[in-house]
Amino acid sequence: KKILFAASEGVPFIKTGGLADVVGSLPKCIDKQYFDVRVVIPKYACIRQEMKDKMRYVNHFYMDFNWTSVYVGIFEAEEEGVHYYFIDNEYYFSGGKVYSDDPKWEIERYAFFSKAALSMLPTVNFQPDIIHCHDWQTGLIPVYMKERFRGGDFYSRMKSVITIHNLKFQGKWDTKTVRSITGLSDYFFTPDKLEAYKDANLLKGGIVYADAVTTVSSTYAEEIKTPFYGEGLDGLLRARKGDLRGIVNGIDYTDFNPESDKQIVNPYNAVNFRKEKVKNKRALQQELGLRQDDKKMMIGIVSRLTDQKGFDLIAYIMDELCQDDVQLVILGTGEERYENMFRHFDWKYNDKVSANIYYSDPLSHKIYASCDAFLMPSLFEPCGLSQLMALRYGTIPIVRETGGLKDTVEPYNEYESTGTGFSFTNYNAHEMLNAIRYAEHIYYDKKREWNKMVDRAMAADFSWHVSAAKYQEMYDWLTG
Ligand code: GLC
Repeated sequence: KKILFAASEGVPFIKTGGLADVVGSLPKCIDKQYFDVRVVIPKYACIRQEMKDKMRYVNHFYMDFNWTSVYVGIFEAEEEGVHYYFIDNEYYFSGGKVYSDDPKWEIERYAFFSKAALSMLPTVNFQPDIIHCHDWQTGLIPVYMKERFRGGDFYSRMKSVITIHNLKFQGKWDTKTVRSITGLSDYFFTPDKLEAYKDANLLKGGIVYADAVTTVSSTYAEEIKTPFYGEGLDGLLRARKGDLRGIVNGIDYTDFNPESDKQIVNPYNAVNFRKEKVKNKRALQQELGLRQDDKKMMIGIVSRLTDQKGFDLIAYIMDELCQDDVQLVILGTGEERYENMFRHFDWKYNDKVSANIYYSDPLSHKIYASCDAFLMPSLFEPCGLSQLMALRYGTIPIVRETGGLKDTVEPYNEYESTGTGFSFTNYNAHEMLNAIRYAEHIYYDKKREWNKMVDRAMAADFSWHVSAAKYQEMYDWLTG
C-alpha cells in the first residue's frame, strides 16, 4: 500500500516544532514490506544548503491557482530509506523563516502547497492509497480530493487522514478571501463544511472531509471533544468521534540515545548513570557559568516560550523557586515577555539560572543529559516530545496532567515505589511549585528512591514501534 505524508515541515530538512520530528521519524518506522510511505513538504529557501544539496530536480508544471497559472517545481531526495518530494515555488517559499506572522499569506501559501501536492502525483507516477495530512496547513487536501479532483480516476479511490498536532492553529481568514484564493465554490463555505464562526477554517475543512481523524495522544483525543480544549471545534470533533483516534507519538530512539549521543559530553546508560550522568552536569555548569556542584538539583526547560507551555505559571513563582536549592537551565525562544522574564532572572540569580534564548539542537541534548529534572507545566499538550526525550535520558519530568503528558508520565507513588515523574492537576502556579518541591524532597532526602525512579524512566519505551503499528492498523482499516 502506498501512503503519502503531506506536511509543512519534516526533520532533517526543516523544523520549527514537534510536528517535524513526527514527520521525520514515523515514516521510517512503518513496515516497508507492506507500505511504501513517501513524504511531501515545501522546498523552503531557508532549508540548509547541505540538505538542499541532497535534492534532485524531477520536473515542473503550471497549475491554476489564485486566478493565475503558477509554477510548481518538484524535487526529490532519499533520506534513511524514505522518499521525499519537495514542492518548489520561489514566490511562496522564499524568506528567512518557515512561517510568517501574516495569516492571510500563510493561508495562500499552504493552499498552494496542498493543491500542488495533489497535482504533482500523476507527474511523478505515484498513486497513493492514502494521503496522510498533518495540521491545518494541509487541511485543504481532503477537501480538494473529495471535490475538485473527484471524477478523475486517478484520485477517486484515494482516502485521506488528518492528524491534529495542535488544535490551537486552524488557518482561519475571511470567507471571501479564502474562497477566492482556493478557487473552491460557495458550496464549501457553510457551517457544516469550511465555515466556522463566519470565517473560513482550513483545519475544519480537513476534519470534515478526511476519512479518518487522529491526534497525538488518547487523552488529547478526549480533551478536544470538550469546550475547554476544543478551540471552537469540539462540536465537530464530537460529531466525528467514531473516526477520531488518539495515537501517542514516539521519538527516534537512535537520535535520542544517551549511550551513543555524539552531542553530549559523557555517554551513559541505564546501568551506569549513577556515576556517569553527573559528568554531563558538571560540564554544563561550567559551560553555562553556573555554580559547579554535582549535588545541586538541576532543572531543565527546553521549549517554545509560549502560553501553551505554562510559562505564566513559572513567571508567577520564579522568585520563590529561586530561593530553593536548585539550578534552572532554560533553552528556547518565543513570546518576548517570557524571553525577558528569563533574562531578568538570569541576571538576578546569576549562579542559579541560565537563560539561553535561542534554539540549539546540541544544547538541547546536553540539557536532557545533564539535568536531574525536566519541567513542562503545559496548559494543554497534544502529545509533547520533550518529556519523552527527558525520560530516555533519565531526567525526571515534572508535568501538568494534560494530553500526552498525562499519557506518558506516570506520577511517582512513594508507597508503591512506582512512577516515572511528578505531576499536578490544576493549572495553578502553587500546585506546580508544590510538585517541584516534592521532587526536591525526594531528590535531596531519598536519593535511592530518586535513582530507582530514573531506572524506571530509562526503562520506559516510547520508541515508535507500538504507535507505528497503530497507524498501520488504521491504514489497513481505511483501505479495507
Ligand atoms: C505539536 C504539539 C505537541 C506535539 C507535536 C507533535 O507541536 O504542541 O504536543 O508533541 O505537535 O505531534
